[in-house]
Amino acid sequence: MLLDGKKTAAEILNEIGVSVLELTKSGKKKPHLAAVLVGDDPPSEMYVRAKIKACAKVGFDSTFIKLPNTISEEELLNKIDELNNNNDIDGFIVQLPLPDHITKSTITLAINPAKDVDGFHPENIGKMTLGLPGLRPATPAGILELLKRNNISTEGKHCVVMGRSNIVGMPMSILLAQKASPGNCTTTICHSKTKNIVKYTRSADILIVAIGKREFITRDMVKPDTIIIDVGIHRKPANTEKGYILTGDVAFDEVSSKVDQITPVPGGVGPLTIASLLLNTLKARTKKF
Ligand code: GUN
Repeated sequence: MLLDGKKTAAEILNEIGVSVLELTKSGKKKPHLAAVLVGDDPPSEMYVRAKIKACAKVGFDSTFIKLPNTISEEELLNKIDELNNNNDIDGFIVQLPLPDHITKSTITLAINPAKDVDGFHPENIGKMTLGLPGLRPATPAGILELLKRNNISTEGKHCVVMGRSNIVGMPMSILLAQKASPGNCTTTICHSKTKNIVKYTRSADILIVAIGKREFITRDMVKPDTIIIDVGIHRKPANTEKGYILTGDVAFDEVSSKVDQITPVPGGVGPLTIASLLLNTLKARTKKF
């Protein structure tokens, strides 16, 4: 069965739209999201444009800031400072990856945690880890919404998270292990140094794949009653108008007919990340967590 991220994301966007109407009806300012893109990597630009488009859909103000690949770290930090101090901007993101001459952690640390709607700042990661209110990393928070809104119980389940990135795998594993709902999972993290990875993928009740390897998970690696969340997104050369099709970290065609539920790519985690980002922006605007 298809686990429809797009549908769940649309529900969330509708709810956000209602909240925006309530804000504006009572004479309050709409949420305003800014997105910074450095360079012109086509997939990154596509993602940022999708985020800006979603803002229009829910009635947010948005600002798209495109900076050249040659910008120095100092210039980017100046731009961040400007956004931190601009009272009209409630939240902003700096799209990753960044060019090699810019240190990601320096940029993450420079963002005001109260405006960090990606939820990447150490203050927000710390609050998440301790279960305190704060802005949660957008993709893991979106996956929790997907599980909750589709009545997928997680308590006591074995959840295997593949990948230990700061933006998906690491926070996802922490959130799922927490005493919360969704949560209360027995959680395993697998990564590039894990031995006998199939032993873990085959024992997963819920398998969250965020390793950035196209169609890595194959039919023989999963058990039939598993639920799969595919975080990967790749361009696979194909005879189409664009010259490619989008695929995930899971070989969808062979795996989907075997397992209980699976998110597609596209139409799975991508729209949830966007919905979750907008939810964080609404929270940053209203200070309600
Ligand atoms: N690159 C890939 N995913 C993300 C994300 O969620 N936020 C940002 N800022 N960059 C990304």
